[in-house]
Amino acid sequence: MKIIHIVGARPQFIKCLPVQKAIISLYPYVEDILVHTGQHYDYMLSEVFFNDLGLKSPKYHLGVGSGFHGEQTGKIIERVERILKQEKPDMVIVYGDTNSTLGGALAASKLHIPIAHVEAGLRSFNRYMPEEINRVLTDHMSSYLFCPTQRATLNLKNEGFLNILNNGKLVDSKDILGFSNLGLEGPIVVNVGDVMYDVILDAIEIAKKNSRILSYLKLNAKEYHLLTLHRQENTDNRMKLLELFHFVSEASTTKKIIFPAHPRTRKAIDQFDINLPQSIILIDPIGYFDMLLLLMNSSMVFTDSGGLQKEAYWLKVPCITLRDETEWIETVESGWNVLYKDYKGFHKFSENCKNLYGDGKAGLRIAQLLCYK
Ligand code: UD1
Repeated sequence: MKIIHIVGARPQFIKCLPVQKAIISLYPYVEDILVHTGQHYDYMLSEVFFNDLGLKSPKYHLGVGSGFHGEQTGKIIERVERILKQEKPDMVIVYGDTNSTLGGALAASKLHIPIAHVEAGLRSFNRYMPEEINRVLTDHMSSYLFCPTQRATLNLKNEGFLNILNNGKLVDSKDILGFSNLGLEGPIVVNVGDVMYDVILDAIEIAKKNSRILSYLKLNAKEYHLLTLHRQENTDNRMKLLELFHFVSEASTTKKIIFPAHPRTRKAIDQFDINLPQSIILIDPIGYFDMLLLLMNSSMVFTDSGGLQKEAYWLKVPCITLRDETEWIETVESGWNVLYKDYKGFHKFSENCKNLYGDGKAGLRIAQLLCYK
């Protein structure tokens, strides 16, 4: 059996790790190939994750780079197609909701190669987000839809998917082997838990041991807030960016705000000639372990990233989401996350909400479902 993982943007390197690890350790006879589209190419957005996480090096690097959506996605389709024709895999795995996800899935679907989508079923119900279009289309091309939550399986049920294993509840990993033999027709929807939760369980210990980011930035625990901001709907509009920076500095009161800026955002700040409020300290993008340590020790995080909303929840850091909606509704219901428009201070945190994002074995379940014979 031959499997190709397609990744290209920062969060996908993290999401791929537990799946690749489980396949390699449980099913050594499976040929496991990583394709990097090159959507992200700066060292701090790409290579650093391979070095830090120990992800297997890509066999192919497609060098797609930046561009308009059609241009970038088009290049991904064309270049992935070439690799798929050459390698003839039995399965393609795509992750999340980026242009690399959509481009990879489109190339595979035209060649009738089954697609597994990791992080399926998420919906913001905002079609202006490029990520929303990417997710919906990818889900409807996939044969295996690996959902991180029960709510994600419900979204897919509402879109007409029929084979929802275990009614959308987390499937016990020993039952998964039985499901592999069901011979179900049509796409299979299964709640495997969140692959990012698998990763953080080990990574936080490594971060605590190895990261020197606090002393490097001369920070004390809980004396600063953290900010990340990169979504196109926030960065492409000067008024919106100004509004968000103003909101962040007002909500922070006296604390300084550490802001590792994505290149897209840094460009927008320069291009729109924006002077950041004095309390916001802009730094270069940082690696995964430094980010986890910085997050864990912050007193609050402002973000428009999907991953950080959950990481904040897992590390019990209050989060204000700089968007009008979120796909990670469970974090809002738990009281640890709030949309910035609704923010009136944090009042009630649920201390003992049971983990809604699985049990740290999502990668294992995915490997078993795909590779067990
Ligand atoms: C992409 C994803 C987004 C994900 C994010 C994680 C899409 C549509 N969006 O957004 O869902 O949350 O990755 O970071 O796929 N750039 C660099 N160096 C790089 C990469 C990008 O300078 O290594 C700059 C380029 O100017 C580029 C811009 O950032 O035009 C945007 O990059 P792109 O990959 O298109 O989208 P992201 O904003 O990173």
